[in-house]
Amino acid sequence: MDNFVFYSPTFFAFGRETEREAGQLIKKFGGSKVLVHYGGGSVVRSGLLERVKTSLTEFGLAFVELGGVKPNPRSGLVYEGIALCKKEGVDFVLAVGGGSAIDSAKAIAAGAIYDGDFWDYYQGKRIEEALPVGTVLTIAAAGSEGSESSVITNEDGMYKRGAGGSAIRPKFSILNPELTQTLPAYQTACGITDIFAHLYERYMTNTKHVEVTDRLLEGLMQTLVQEAPKVIADPDNYEARANIMWAGMMAHNNSCGVGRSQDWASHDIEHELSATYDVAHGAGLAVTMPAVMTYNVDHNVMRFAQAAVRVWGCQMDFENPKNTALAGIQAFRNFLKLIGMPQNFAELGAKAEDIDQMAQTACYGDARKGSLGGFVSLNKEDVSNIYKLMLE
Ligand code: NZQ
Ligand code: ZN
Repeated sequence: MDNFVFYSPTFFAFGRETEREAGQLIKKFGGSKVLVHYGGGSVVRSGLLERVKTSLTEFGLAFVELGGVKPNPRSGLVYEGIALCKKEGVDFVLAVGGGSAIDSAKAIAAGAIYDGDFWDYYQGKRIEEALPVGTVLTIAAAGSEGSESSVITNEDGMYKRGAGGSAIRPKFSILNPELTQTLPAYQTACGITDIFAHLYERYMTNTKHVEVTDRLLEGLMQTLVQEAPKVIADPDNYEARANIMWAGMMAHNNSCGVGRSQDWASHDIEHELSATYDVAHGAGLAVTMPAVMTYNVDHNVMRFAQAAVRVWGCQMDFENPKNTALAGIQAFRNFLKLIGMPQNFAELGAKAEDIDQMAQTACYGDARKGSLGGFVSLNKEDVSNIYKLMLE
């Protein structure tokens, strides 16, 4: 196991009706003038936004609102939010929604007290300072409610980049599984796929002797395999929703990723798909991950075989462990199909003629020395080959 530090000071309020605590929690963390930031309207239709605002008013908090965050959140609205915060003297940013609203809120929080262009942070500068951020989560997926990262699409060129820093880790996150019951089945499945990806990206490691985190990751994956079909069949299954929601947080606050190298190739390759075709991040991952796994399997057959046996219940083929490794990847594909995720480029609406450009952008041109991935170092040609695997 590698050396690590782990400091994850987010306060979580989990369970039914916890959104009513929003006002109290903002006060606890020093807010007095709040930007309430949300998406395209689901929180308005469900009545959640009204309940949150009532809670803010009860605790004497002044607030301004900015809705309209799109999935794969855009830089334009971030600039708008930054200007609003500066004009109104906002000292706390509350995101009400999914990963997109939260990531946009984090970008605004960082940009609101930065003299330069907030995009500097999305080009490698660490975020050391930001307004405090809180979240009321409405979809179990991105894990942004417990993470120190944010992903934004730059509208000038339509490419997606991430930024990070402990300053944007939420001060608090409110997780009420009931709020996820209004999600369409497809969005629920996209979220589950993203959670799976956050586990697999960490599972694909070159670090040895990482039993604790291996077992945590495997346990969370098994939980998803067990709970996902329940919520797809019955969207109102509170207990299954609750388990998936906490799995989503656990998968990405890095408690399961410490002390080990991690991959993240699938995310980097997928980000070009969601930026180019505006598909849901989880749907893009459903197509990307099995392709990356298939491409990388020979790098460490036994790691894939271990997942196949421990997560997917495959029989170990001691004569030819690669059979087991491949059976595990196939079991994952079957699971994704079962929950209604796309299987290939065509189902995603992606096009073969864009492959070269996406591979180039995914590798950041030359800025990244042409390679990505912490498990297997992939260059532009590898990334192109992986996109080609997704054609079938
Ligand atoms: O915009 P509204 O109207 O709210 O609708 C949203 C949106 O259309 C809808 N939705 C959310 N909760 C709902 C609901 N509809 C009905 N009922 C509810 N309870 O679902 C759609 C998707 O929402 P979004 O916030 O985009 O989903 P998600 O949480 O999957 O976030 C995706 C974004 O997170 C980024 C992705 O790249 C993507 O841009 N990620 C952020 C990470 C991070 N910050 O740590 C890590 C992830 O790997 C990921 O990259
Ligand atoms: Zn993700």
